[in-house]
Amino acid sequence: MKFSTTLLALATAFAAPFVAAQQANFTSPLGVEIYNPADGIDATGPWSLMSVAGNTVYVAGMRGIYPSNNSMAEVGYPRIKQAFLNMQYLAEYAGAELADCSRVVVYTTDMFRYRPIVNAVQEELWKNGTYPPRTIIEVSRLNQDDIVEVEGTFYLGTGGAKYV
Ligand SMILES: *[C@@H]1O[C@H](CO)[C@@H](O)[C@H](O)[C@H]1NC(C)=O
Ligand SMILES: *[C@@H]1O[C@H](CO)[C@@H](O)[C@H](O)[C@H]1NC(C)=O
Ligand SMILES: *[C@@H]1O[C@H](CO)[C@@H](O)[C@H](O)[C@H]1NC(C)=O
Repeated sequence: MKFSTTLLALATAFAAPFVAAQQANFTSPLGVEIYNPADGIDATGPWSLMSVAGNTVYVAGMRGIYPSNNSMAEVGYPRIKQAFLNMQYLAEYAGAELADCSRVVVYTTDMFRYRPIVNAVQEELWKNGTYPPRTIIEVSRLNQDDIVEVEGTFYLGTGGAKYV
């Protein structure tokens, strides 16, 4: 018991400055880590779900797809909520939380109809009432004729991930 505690303390003390919480699928020569967690959605093309570069986490544009079966949630609130939950899952996988979000970009095919739902979802998720800076844009089309896509950037702090 004591031995393993000491080992843990040593491992923590000598951890690399920016070590993400989980094992990356790929690390580039300069240290960009690419992640496609098994419990996340399946990427729908030649792209990855997330990268960690230094102490910054970049989550790919997330849509309202259920990771359990890769099918799209019902149009409207369930779809939009699931998109944000998919982003949250990845950020937490990397060791950040919603409060560590430094920027959100939302794309929607119908500003009038879906922006209020995006707002409601954000109010639910950022319970403290402190929201990350956001850009929201109406676009003519999203992949699979989807309605909303959200892209988040997160910060891991100067010491790297919190949950190494
Ligand atoms: C990425 O890594 C995770 C965790 O090690 C693994 O479960 C998953 O299958 C890998 N994904 C790919 C596409 O290699
Ligand atoms: C996919 O999974 C979600 C919940 O995980 C469920 O609500 C939905 O009905 C499933 N869809 C299909 C097509 O199986
Ligand atoms: C809300 O505030 C608490 C305490 O300050 C903090 O730990 C938590 O991360 C915050 N959550 C969000 C989503 O901002």
